[in-house]
Order: sequence, then C-alpha cells, then structure tokens
Amino acid sequence: MFKPETYTSRRNALRAELSSGIAIFPGNTEASFNYPANTYHFRQDSTFSYFFGLNQPDLAGIIDIDKGQDILFGNDVDMDDIIWMGPQPSIADRGSLAGISHTQQLAAFDEYVKDALSNGRKVHFLPPYRGETKIQLSELLGIAVKDLKASASVELIKGVVKLRSIKSEEEIAEIEKMVDVAYLMHTTAMKMAHPGIVEQEIAGTVEGIALANAGPVSFPVILSINGQTLHNHYHGNTLTEGRMMVVDCGCESEETLYSSDITRTVPVGGRFSQRQKEIYEIVLKANLSAIEAIKPGIKYREVHMLAARTIAEELTKLGLMKGNPADAVAAGAHALFFPHGLGHMMGMDVHDMENLGENYVGYDEETFRATQFGTAFLRLGRTLQPGFVLTVEPGIYFIPALIDQWKAEGKYTEFINYEKVETYKDFGGIRIEDDVLVTETGNRVLGKPIPKTVAEIEELMKR
Ligand code: GLY
Repeated sequence: MFKPETYTSRRNALRAELSSGIAIFPGNTEASFNYPANTYHFRQDSTFSYFFGLNQPDLAGIIDIDKGQDILFGNDVDMDDIIWMGPQPSIADRGSLAGISHTQQLAAFDEYVKDALSNGRKVHFLPPYRGETKIQLSELLGIAVKDLKASASVELIKGVVKLRSIKSEEEIAEIEKMVDVAYLMHTTAMKMAHPGIVEQEIAGTVEGIALANAGPVSFPVILSINGQTLHNHYHGNTLTEGRMMVVDCGCESEETLYSSDITRTVPVGGRFSQRQKEIYEIVLKANLSAIEAIKPGIKYREVHMLAARTIAEELTKLGLMKGNPADAVAAGAHALFFPHGLGHMMGMDVHDMENLGENYVGYDEETFRATQFGTAFLRLGRTLQPGFVLTVEPGIYFIPALIDQWKAEGKYTEFINYEKVETYKDFGGIRIEDDVLVTETGNRVLGKPIPKTVAEIEELMKR
C-alpha cells in the first residue's frame, strides 16, 4: 500500500468532483471456480483499491460527500478465521492503513446505504462487472440487475476517470516496476523460442516469472506462432522454423495492482528471414513514429492514424498495397492488415477503467468513436494529457479468413494487391507494444528497454 495520505487525498479529490450524496464502493468478494471454498486468486476491485488501498475480500467503502467523512466497512475475524488464515488486522487497523478513522462491521454498510436512500440522498455507484456485486447492489438498491449499468452514476464515473487517468509519481514507479518484470518475461520467452519447444512451456515459464517477481499476469498470456489471431490463448503448437512467435503479456503488482502490458514478436530460431524482416521493420517504424508523436495536446486518434499511414505507405512500397496510401487509410483499406486500435490507457487495469465504460475513458467531449472497421476499435482516441499511461501497439497481420472475405467482396481492390497478399497467408502476424507515459513535454517509454530492433532480438536469441 501507499502511505495513508495518498488514499485520503484521493478521496478528498473525488469529494470535490461530486455535488452531493454518498459514493459507495463495494470491494470484491472471493469468486469460486468449482466449489464454494475453492476460489480463484483474489483480485480486489481497482477503484476500491485506488481509494482505500486494501487488498482483502469482503470490504466496502463509503465516501460521504455531504458529511465530509469516509467510512470503511469490514468484519473483524473470529477464531475460525484465525485458525485457517492466521491472525488478521482488525477493521480499525485496516482503516488506519487507508487513513480512515470511521470503521464499522460489514453489515452496517447496507444500513448506511438504506438510510441514505430513505432520506432522499443521492447514492452514487459505479457499474458493477461481477455477478456477486451485481446481486449485492441489485438487492441493496432495489434496481434490477439488467438496469444497474444504466443506473450507475455518470457523475461518479467521470470523477473517477478524471482522477485515475492522471498517474502520480508513485503510481508511475509501480507501473515501471511491472514493466521491468515484463522485461524478464519477454527476454526469457525470446531465449526459449527455438524450434521443437511447445508454446505451453514458454507460456508457463513466463507466467511463473510474473508470479515469482511481482504478482499474477495482468491478463491471460497471449503467446502463439499463429499471431494473426490477435488474442491467441491456445498454447499447444510446437515452434517450427519459419514461424514468428507473438508474445503479449504483462503482470500486476500483488499489492497495489498496477500493471504492465508489452508485446514482442520474434522469429522462431532467432534469425529473421528477409520476408519477416521486411514486415517487422514496418511494424517497428509504426511503433517508433507513433511514440515520437506522443505529447500533451495531441489526440491519440491522430497518433493511431499516423501509425496506419506508416503501415500503408510501407506496405505500398512492398507491393502488398497500391494507390495513394493516405487515400487508402482514409477509406479504411489498411485495416485488412491492422484491424485494431493503436492502444489503450493502462494503470491498475491493463485496459484501465474499462469497466467504467470505454467511451468515458478513451474519448472526450470533442472526440467521438469512429464507425469505420478498424478505426472504430480504437479504445483511446482522446486528447492526451501529462500523466496518462498508454500502450502503443501497432501490428500487421495476415488473417486468411479476412483476406478471403474482402477479396470475395471485391473490397478496396484499388488499394490492395490481393495477388501478392495471397502469398502471405502463411505468414502469421507481428505486433510490437510498449507502455508509454505522457510527460509535460512529450513522452517516456516506461521500464528497462526490451529488445525491439532486428539486431537486438537476433543478438539476444543467439545460442
Ligand atoms: N495486451 C492485451 C490487450 O490489450 O488486451
């Protein structure tokens, strides 16, 4: 945890964003996977953690805007709990860690909320994403589960997004520690990526590095020689010469929950073929030129479009695309190869605050989501501000089913050289991703640099 003052000042800052009422934050409970007592690794709700810092199940917090006080709810353990879990701090002790002097047993949370409702006070809550919390809030607030999302407080969502979007020095330091663990994960994966090994061995090793050095992976490891499938979680292939291995993974701090999210793509065996090098250099150029463009005041959609233009220009030089690259991008033809957004906000969640609504986090009053295939999938389009941490992850993919569909539909024949594209259907995909902080003057790529150029990767993978 950070110092208690961090959480106190975050709660005070939120209070200043809300006009009246109470804001309620149910923490996460344990979630079972095959019988009630066999639970998944416990993961606290990120917003609860942001304001209260505590990483145990069955807690709840209230920020009372009218009374100017914060209350933490949770149960003191009994002897049964001590026998199974060992001695635990009292709820009053936990409260002091979060800078809270008002603590009560968990049952009082419901009473506090019902009392506020019966007095006609506004009860602000965030859209719940877990079944347990949905049931809890539905019963407490008398709102059908299906209506909870629409009934959530937009004022609270906007206040939380405003605060959590700007990372403080101590948050940046936590993220950077997680990127340094991702360095170990990725360089280990690269060294293992030789013919004959099964993907699962590398994926398991990488996940073990996360657990041994920080905490759980921040999302299920994406690792595959079939990188044309953007989020490939199947790890049963044996690595063979001629394929490239995409590894997209990161970890999160067991204690503070801050995360990392890095992608690297390497040739199996450690030497790029000419064809692999040509496509790789394009993705690298898109990654580097996008990073160079990141600074306060620029819309991330502009940076995305810059990456798309780089890809289209270079694919045109290679003969995979044709015509004017700027026109091709304006029409959306590049999305055959780059069918996703350039990146997303990152913090305590790998897609930071996505549970609050992607448009609240990634867009603003003057930036609206595009509707065109590819560009519409951009999770972050808004104007960048100092303190944002975001991912930069361009890619080029040869997705046989998409190629077949577009070709059959005669889509963008003025921009796509289908005859040549056909010869790349066995290529796979390449993505290169870094975690970047927007600074006052530009940006900083976070963490220890992870090999990224052809020369650096070939050197690291040398046996
Ligand atoms: N890197 C995985 C994701 O962005 O979903």
